Amino acid sequence: MKKKFYITTPIYYPSGKPHMGHAYSSILTDIIARFKRLEGFQVFFLTGTDEHGLKIQKSAEKVKSETIKYCDDLSSIFRKLSDQLCLSNTDFIRTTENRHKNTVQKLWELLSKKDQIYLSKYSGWYSISDEAYYSNDEIIDVEGSKKAKVSGSLVEWMEEESYFFKLSSYENKLLDYYNKNPDFIQPTSRKNEVISFVKQGLKDLSISRTTFDWGIKVPGHKKHIVYVWLDALTNYISASNYFKCGQDAPWPADIHIIGKDILRFHAVYWPAFLMAANIPLPKKIFSHGWILSGEEKMSKSKGNILDPIEIIEHYGIDELRYYLSKEVVFGADGKINNENLEICINDLANNIGNLSQRVFTLIEKYYNSKMPEKSQNYTRSSLTMINTKDFQKYLYNLEIHNYVREINKYSSKINKYVNDNEPWNRKINSDENIRNILYTSINSLKNIFILLSPIMPKKSNYFLNLLGLKSYDFNTLDKDIPSDQKLIKPGILFKKY
Ligand code: MSP
Repeated sequence: MKKKFYITTPIYYPSGKPHMGHAYSSILTDIIARFKRLEGFQVFFLTGTDEHGLKIQKSAEKVKSETIKYCDDLSSIFRKLSDQLCLSNTDFIRTTENRHKNTVQKLWELLSKKDQIYLSKYSGWYSISDEAYYSNDEIIDVEGSKKAKVSGSLVEWMEEESYFFKLSSYENKLLDYYNKNPDFIQPTSRKNEVISFVKQGLKDLSISRTTFDWGIKVPGHKKHIVYVWLDALTNYISASNYFKCGQDAPWPADIHIIGKDILRFHAVYWPAFLMAANIPLPKKIFSHGWILSGEEKMSKSKGNILDPIEIIEHYGIDELRYYLSKEVVFGADGKINNENLEICINDLANNIGNLSQRVFTLIEKYYNSKMPEKSQNYTRSSLTMINTKDFQKYLYNLEIHNYVREINKYSSKINKYVNDNEPWNRKINSDENIRNILYTSINSLKNIFILLSPIMPKKSNYFLNLLGLKSYDFNTLDKDIPSDQKLIKPGILFKKY
């Protein structure tokens, strides 16, 4: 039986068209999912849309659409984006689905039964855009408007009857948990932020609203709508079917990938809800940085949105995935613009692209596009023998940029080997030598594309299919291509700019 691995993206607000920030969260999650499949895991990969709350209700009102119709339309755009990004997700959840509503109500009942919830009155600041409550010291006055310091979003004063979750009693339990599980929140800098936030003291959290109705009703009190973050976070267990399948469900998640702006919800509220309900906690929460447009975070209000589809149409999805994984340090903020993207693609074309063209041209010329026999001189060396640990260590540390760099180093080594040995030069090479060099190079190329497949699934699949490989995983790294195998020369793999 394969070991399970459960990974999630945040679920996206369908309050506008998806942008590069959404694409980034999803692509990086997909890279990890595909890598774990190469390692032989059965991977559950969840993504979806977060459809309740005032923000969505207002967005629908703005375009005079029925709210559910509005969600149907936008959610389907996000679903389509999953295909355009080549995501290998195994599920796509919408919080308006019954399987999710039932889970949220079940969790509520559980929390209520365990005496973790009480009815009172909320008065304080609320940001609709962040769907978040803020205390007085988290607010600043900007030209007469009140805004949340952390996000710059407008806040409004809110007073209404509300159910509260006893978050304040989880302060020490959370700190203790972070301490005993030092890798629970990553990167470390973000973990430290969370710890200092919790150390400042936690107040009980308002978890229901009564002034609108677009959401999941509180069981037994239909006037109340479940707070959208309690609703949204629960998607991770709804999709795993935890309440029905218990230990057979893929829960707990191995990792939640999220952006740094939603860390507090995932690293403080979510574990506290789960502790309160006596449900196992996710194993890891990794918070990535922002993809900046110019020097700023993309947002509709700033009008600086980068459209991933435009970039994909112009440069290709694999090229975009390669850029985001190599040029943005996972965990830090990063930039994308055409100039940098083109430099990065040109490097790729000069290294891996060039290597495969040269090798295939010679295979076509000398061996009629068939895999040559292994030569007597051939010994497996570091050129074809991969120590998977050299690559795994980067993925385990979530240093995805270093994983890609390691593949490039490997490819440069093979390029150098080909340059130094000149398999095109019959004056200095015997037939046997040439056979040896090309046999080695083509098997190395196989390995390069297997390792690259989580990053560039389309091109890798295309390339490996031309070598006769229909399916592959880490075990295929150890297997040479059988002699006589038809090897079809690829077209230009990476266009230069
Ligand atoms: N619906 C919530 C998440 C609920 S998860 C239980 C939400 N949605 S969102 O659509 O606003 O954002 C989803 C993800 O996109 C977040 O992880 C956020 O960090 C990420 N990004 C949004 N803009 C971004 C950038 N400019 N750069 C990188 N990622 C950013 O929050």
